[in-house]
Parts: sequence; C-alpha cells; structure tokens
Amino acid sequence: MPFAPGGEGFLGHNRDFREERLAMLDRFAASPEPVVRMRLPIPGFQAFVVNSPDTVQELLVEKAKSFDKSDMLRFTLRHLAGEGLFTSNGELWKRQRRLMAPLFAPKALDKYAEAMIASSRRVAARWADGQTLSLLHETTTLTMSIAGKTLFDADTFGEADEIGRALTVALEWTAWSAGRPLAMSHLMGRRVLRGLAPRAPGWARKPLADVIDRLQGPIVLFGERGRALAEAIELLDARVQRMIDDRRAALARGEAKEDLLSRLLDARDEDDGATMSDRQVRDEILTLFVAGHETTATGLAWTIYSLCKNPEVYAAVQREVDALEHDATTKDLGRLELCARVFKEALRLYPPVYIVGRDAQEPVTLGGYEIPPYSQVAYSAWALHRSPYHWPDPLRFDPDRFLPEREAKRHRYAWVPFGAGPRVCIGNHFAIMEAQLALAYMLRRARFDLLGDEEPDPSAATLRPRHGVQVKVRLRDALRAKVA
Ligand code: HEM
Repeated sequence: MPFAPGGEGFLGHNRDFREERLAMLDRFAASPEPVVRMRLPIPGFQAFVVNSPDTVQELLVEKAKSFDKSDMLRFTLRHLAGEGLFTSNGELWKRQRRLMAPLFAPKALDKYAEAMIASSRRVAARWADGQTLSLLHETTTLTMSIAGKTLFDADTFGEADEIGRALTVALEWTAWSAGRPLAMSHLMGRRVLRGLAPRAPGWARKPLADVIDRLQGPIVLFGERGRALAEAIELLDARVQRMIDDRRAALARGEAKEDLLSRLLDARDEDDGATMSDRQVRDEILTLFVAGHETTATGLAWTIYSLCKNPEVYAAVQREVDALEHDATTKDLGRLELCARVFKEALRLYPPVYIVGRDAQEPVTLGGYEIPPYSQVAYSAWALHRSPYHWPDPLRFDPDRFLPEREAKRHRYAWVPFGAGPRVCIGNHFAIMEAQLALAYMLRRARFDLLGDEEPDPSAATLRPRHGVQVKVRLRDALRAKVA
C-alpha cells in the first residue's frame, strides 16, 4: 500500500498531525489514492487513511462490524464522555442506541422546534444595533440553550458561559492529547496487557483486567492542562449530578417529563430489568450535550461566515427568509430549502468533525488492501470534501451542489460530515432543522457585516473558526427605520 504524502522525518505523520494538521489533510485531498498508510514512529503501531467515497463506504457501512470506535478517541474523551453513545462499543452501544433512537427520529423532531425558536429569539434579543459580536459565541450560546432545553428540559442559558468554558477546556484537552506519543505508548501498553491476559494465571486475571480497564483513559492528569481538565470535569460532573438528582426527585413526586433525561432514568434492561447507573446516565448526558451543541454551533458560525464572503448567496438566502410572513416554524421548513443547502455546503468546506477513526478488530480488506487487526483506520471529511476527484472546483462555496438533481449524480459517501452506517450521527436531522430555524430567525432579525477573515483552528475538538467570526450587527428593524 502506498504511504500517505508527507510524513518526512523521524516522527513521520505524527509530526504532521500535530504541527500542520490541515496542510497534511490538504495533501491527502490532492492524492488520488483510495487508501494510504501513515508513517509512524512507534513500532507495531499501524495506521491507515481511507481517502475515497468507495473506501469510506467499506469502512463505515459494508465492513462496519470489523471495526470499533478507536481506542485513541476513547482515550482522549474518557474523562468527558466515558462510555456514552459516541465512544461506547458492542452490546452497550447497541442497547443505548436502541433506547435513544426514537427521540431523534424525524417524526419526533417537531416537538423540539419551539425550543429552537425560543432560544433563537432570546439570543437575538440581546443584540444592539451596531454592536460587534463573535458569531461563534452567539451560536454556541444558542445551541447550548437548545440542547439543554430539548434534551433535558434544563435552562442552561444563564450558565452558558461557565459550562461553555468548562467544555472548551475539556474539548481542547481532547484535541491536544490525540496522537501524542504519551497517548500512543499508553495504548500500546494496554494492547500488550490484553495480549497477555488470556495466558495469565487465574489469580492474576481480575487485577490484570482492572489495569486494562483503567488504561482506557489517562491514569493521572499532569501539568497545567491536566489540572485545568480535572477542574472542568469536576464542574461538569457537579452540574450533571444536580440535574439527575432534581429529576429523580421530580419523578418520585410523579412529575413526569417527556425528555431524554427521564427516558434514561426510566430505562430498564430488557434481560434483567436493571436501571442505568448514575454514571452511565452522566456519560450519556455529557455526550449528547457536547455532541448536540458544539458541532452545530461551529457549523452555523461557518455558514454565516460563508454567506458574508459570498454576497450573492447571502442575498438569495435573505430573500428566502424574508418571504416568510412570520418567524419560521416547522411548517416552513419546506420553504427554507436554501437555508438547508447553505448549511450543508458549509459543513462540506468546514466539517466540524473532520477526522473520524476506527480500530480494526479482525483482518479485513479495504480498497483491496489487507488491514491487520488492531490497526487504526481513519477518514477525514475535510480531505474528502475538498478532493478535486469528487468535487468540481472544490474550494468554491456553492450551495447548488446540494440541489437534488446534483446530489443524485454524486457518490452517496462523497459528503460525510455526519459519518455513515450504523454509527451515523444520531442528531443529523435535529442539526439540520436547528440550523434552518436558527438561520431563518437570525437573518430576519439582523444583517451581519464581517470584520475580518477567518481560518479553521484544528486545536479544538471541532473545527472552529480561529477568531470566532467577528461581525458588526445591523438590526434590520433599525435599518428599515433609517430608510423610512
Ligand atoms: C452539524 C452538526 C453535527 C455534526 C457535524 C455531527 C457529526 C457527527 C459525526 C461525524 C458522527 C459520527 C462519528 C463516527 O462515526 O465515529 C456523529 C455521531 C454522533 N452525534 Fe453528531 N453531529 C452533529 C450534530 C449532532 C447533534 C445535534 C446531536 C444530538 C443532539 C449529535 C449526537 C451525536 C451522537 C450521540 C453520536 C454518536 C452516535 C453513535 O455512535 O451511535 N450530533 N456526529
């Protein structure tokens, strides 16, 4: 199998990944190879990248059973997301997905619209004409408020900044620790112990199993970053535990609520009727809270940034939202199809989850090449979405790529910001509806003038705009009054 482009020097692609991640992914985008091999400094550690829609389909859909979520991802998210839906594997994942899927099915989404609109209204109500804003801050406050309300009926709005800061610290630690030699040697150690486990004498099996379990995440957190992570997790744990305690008390008083938190607390195992531990509920809550707001906030900020950079598209979207006689509701989603397309095009150019990894659990082939067990396989939505082999004029912002007739001609797995197959994002319809409603509300209320250019920052766990998209807000009522 050919090596991936780049990866010169002793540390190979490990250095590229840490020091020039997006430039490395641009080189992958320019490569016609469907699968490439990374050069890595640790003997015995093998990693591959699938680099075409066909091989992504093999990895995520056709051969999904041969792969688990990557140990590296689980390691970096251990403190934040534990064994939640995003990071868990096997039977636990299957059970939890079955339990949560109905809450995210398209027909269940209508009931979330009200919270999406109410939160948009509250965020926009704070804007003053002529004010300078970080759009990323606004979209984060917005999606955090929506996630809190729709998933847990909790009013996180007032706490947004404190919780937001703690999540940012935790997510930055995740991005920082991924691929570090310390994390890699940690996982290598775990793999060696797993290999030894079946041959260990009876008395040693339990302690060995405990050590293997502990090694799934960092054992100690050192340095300033480690201390900051520990503090952030402590704050998040306290908040979530309070939410769980309050809800248990409300359920005991017979005050039922139809949200995800009640459903998690109510859930019974099909076999033994056991309820979920507080720890499992906590992992699911933090997983959904993070996965449910961070990605959409980033995607929305990039969408408005892209509109500002493409005035003709901005004008067309403005006409679409102005054609509504009132603030958007779910009944108007069909009339907000350009809002959906600009969001999808922004997710193409700036996919918030831009690298996704798996670990092979058995020998398997991808693109005709043999992949040994225990090796890591990843795909990058950034590289795939910018590939000139699958997207004409790939760097141009063109929402017409998502017109149904053009989508029909494209490979189904050329656009994968939400992943694909059994582990596809459970919140993908939720996110698109949220984006349509929020965009419609924000663009009806205000006009945004960009104050500077942006670049993607790969140092956070999602691909945030480095400067937060600084804009000047012009309230449209004020503009209209001026013209009159
Ligand atoms: C623009 C917004 C979003 C993007 C780009 C996004 C992206 C992704 C991707 C790429 C995956 C698959 C990762 C993999 O295969 O390893 C995923 C999984 C997941 N997402 Fe999203 N997501 C978004 C919004 C949401 C929302 C709104 C929620 C919840 C309300 C959510 C919850 C989840 C969960 C729980 C998983 C794990 C699913 C599983 O493994 O069964 N996401 N997301």
